[in-house]
Amino acid sequence: MKSQEIRQKFLDFFKDQQHLIVPSAPIVLKDDPTLMFSNSGMTQFKDAFLGYKEPQNVRIADTQKCLRVSGKHNDLDDVGKDTYHHTMFEMLGNWSFGDYFKEEAIDWAWKLLTEEYKIPKDWLYVTVFEGDSRENLERDNDAYSFWSKHIATDRILNGNKKDNFWEMGDQGPCGPCSEIHVDIRSNEEKTKIDGKTLVNNDHPQLVEIWNLVFMEYLRKADGSLEFLPKKNIDTGMGFERLCMVLQGKTSNYDTDVFSPLIEKVEQLSGKKYGTSHEVDVAFRVIVDHIRAVAFSIADGQLPSNTGAGYVIRRILRRAISYGYRFLDFKSPFLYELIAILENQMGSFFPEISKQKSLVTDVIKEEENNFLRTIAQGLQRLNELIEKSIESKVLNGKDLFVLYDTYGFPLDLSRIIGEEQGFSVDEEGFDAEMQIQKNRGKEAGKQTTSDWTIRVENANEEFIGYDSLTCETNITRYRQIQNNKGTFYQIVLQNTPFYAESGGQIGDTGTLSMGNETIEVLQTVKENNLIIHVSSCIPTNLDAIVVAKVDAKRRHAIMKNHTATHLLHQALRQKLGTHVEQKGSFVGNENLRFDFSHFQKMSDDELIWVENFVNERIDDEIPLIENRSENIQNAIAKGAMALFGEKYGDIVRTIQFGDSIELCGGTHVQNTKDIKWFKIVSESSSAAGIRRIEAISGDAVQKFYKDKNEQLEEVLTVLKNPKEPKLAVEKLLLELNELKKQNEQLQKQQAMAQKSVWKDAIIEQNGVQLLVIQTNLENNLVKEIAMQLKQEIHNLVVIAVSNANQKPSISICISDELVKEKNLHAGNLVKELAKYIDGSGGGQPNFAVAGGKNLTGIETVLAEAKKLL
Ligand code: SER
Repeated sequence: MKSQEIRQKFLDFFKDQQHLIVPSAPIVLKDDPTLMFSNSGMTQFKDAFLGYKEPQNVRIADTQKCLRVSGKHNDLDDVGKDTYHHTMFEMLGNWSFGDYFKEEAIDWAWKLLTEEYKIPKDWLYVTVFEGDSRENLERDNDAYSFWSKHIATDRILNGNKKDNFWEMGDQGPCGPCSEIHVDIRSNEEKTKIDGKTLVNNDHPQLVEIWNLVFMEYLRKADGSLEFLPKKNIDTGMGFERLCMVLQGKTSNYDTDVFSPLIEKVEQLSGKKYGTSHEVDVAFRVIVDHIRAVAFSIADGQLPSNTGAGYVIRRILRRAISYGYRFLDFKSPFLYELIAILENQMGSFFPEISKQKSLVTDVIKEEENNFLRTIAQGLQRLNELIEKSIESKVLNGKDLFVLYDTYGFPLDLSRIIGEEQGFSVDEEGFDAEMQIQKNRGKEAGKQTTSDWTIRVENANEEFIGYDSLTCETNITRYRQIQNNKGTFYQIVLQNTPFYAESGGQIGDTGTLSMGNETIEVLQTVKENNLIIHVSSCIPTNLDAIVVAKVDAKRRHAIMKNHTATHLLHQALRQKLGTHVEQKGSFVGNENLRFDFSHFQKMSDDELIWVENFVNERIDDEIPLIENRSENIQNAIAKGAMALFGEKYGDIVRTIQFGDSIELCGGTHVQNTKDIKWFKIVSESSSAAGIRRIEAISGDAVQKFYKDKNEQLEEVLTVLKNPKEPKLAVEKLLLELNELKKQNEQLQKQQAMAQKSVWKDAIIEQNGVQLLVIQTNLENNLVKEIAMQLKQEIHNLVVIAVSNANQKPSISICISDELVKEKNLHAGNLVKELAKYIDGSGGGQPNFAVAGGKNLTGIETVLAEAKKLL
């Protein structure tokens, strides 16, 4: 069976069991502060498991793009080294939200594997939770008895809490689980070693393929467990591993999921997969990582220096450096794999087809940048090697700087060092890494108490599209402690506060109870719950709460949000429909809009776009809002949907004239409310992505007022000329003229010194040596030295300057001395530079060094005379 059929069979099977089949959620999570990426199939249903929101159906199944590269579930270090771990993988899953439980989950899993996929029963082992006395949990006898209907009891093994009790995180839904393992070893090996002993023992051919979690507990902040209101099922099957089993392979990388990518890398590198351990690891790292990076970019996460973007950049760099080291890729190559990936996965995951050119461009640009970084890193490493010539040990702290600032991998430093007989201070490196990690941990440390629930099943509601204030009550709250202090998170029955999402910042405002008022510092969303953050909690939690959004701030945000839609429309009209939103920030002070486009916008284009938006403002176009539009209808009407966003069947559309977008944000009632729109900058934000920053409303008035004030100040300084532009041009002309004259004078002065320098030359060991102190700048020193070199043979000039109160040394040597006596200005200058706390270098016949310590000049002069 081809991988496509394997995937489809899973979905069809559960469809037949009345499951709703849903698409994979984006791999990158947008509105979950606790998690960066989908790390299992259940991530997109967290709100349903937590009881915040009703699921679409009580039975759901899908295949989910997952990434396990950070946090509790992190497989990154294993990837490449073995044949069955991945960064990105697909998890096939079926869910029950308070509907069926253990028996059906077990029966269906067995039926699908043995009857539909026809895996021989005697290849399978299952595990059940053995219980845990510290947690007061008993062995999962129910699971055992359901399994024993299907499988010989000696194939049902007990598993401990580590393997058989699945938890989403430190807090939250969890429960005992049963894993299904499959033994794909040869018959001969099976008779030699009993498969039972290899379960959960990291054997590459006896692997777990499916995990059935019986989610019935909630892990609380104090570590205790309580029952969830409903019993749920959460299962996850590793798609790539399943393909390995069904395609009769012994490695995930030999399946048709990976083999076309491997073939392409073979073709590009001229090397063969399967020839040596190191080469194979590199192949696996590359074909694994390219999927993670490509899908993250397609889902809207560009590589960057912070957060999820940084994780993606690190994965990409890991792939580039493995290619560089083991497959001799010295120029970009990864981007060439995108076409293959699209070919294989595009029909099921259309985002990779739609975003192909962006993904390709971004990866190529990242590759170019990192390869340049590797070149710079190599230069730094060579300096370290020179510095460590005596000890023959490369200092761990220095290597860490190389790793941290240049992204230069330790492995690469080690290989290059060892080639030249140097060892690496691994302990020092690890210690630095630990210090950095601890710093990060300290900064990110947060303790969260359990929710105190005041209203059960509250079904909280957002009313902030229509109103900025309301009377309501508190449904739940909890305390958060982090490095910024102690905060309270409060949830209200109804709230006018918009929670940060879709690029729009969260509202601020107040909550008043009688004569007590507390401030809402921020509003955020977590698993669809709208959370008001405050530094205190009201004394009377039962009182009626008057929730009031800071209206002035919110109006400014609404103006910027509507302006963003008009800007988007203008860009598509002017530049073309390749323009797609790639990021957006809507604040109260400004807006930022990132979009796909390949070159810098011209001034004319920017003016056109700005005028377009201002004309729409003048046109006084009213808002047409539809809060419950069928998604297909909305798209048919031309509404723009964003890639990497998760939409349900019913969506909200925001229309101003011809601009229609699917959007959950807050908008003005009429474009005239925006008043003015002004672009303040256009720049590059990544390869193939431009960024516009703009302002609207009163901010535009203030912008021009400030500009006017600046102009007034300049005019006053210029003594209010009639024609200011001409006056400034005249000043610049005069300034240039004076600069030229000054240079001329300096040159003349220098030439006057030349004869003084000539007289100071002495003969020493067959060399005409000039050691001289001067206050001339380095360019003039070089000019005189070069002229003297033309006139005098066997000359060595060592000039020490204190121009601009900074010490520097210039050395110039005749070519014949370089050749015959092997003199080297670059080396000599390095020796002298230490006396002025400086560094430098250069060619054999000319070199310069700059320093910090003026008092060292005397020593330089004395040592220079001894040098030859
Ligand atoms: N959540 C479980 C896992 O990730 C089953 O889907 O293994």
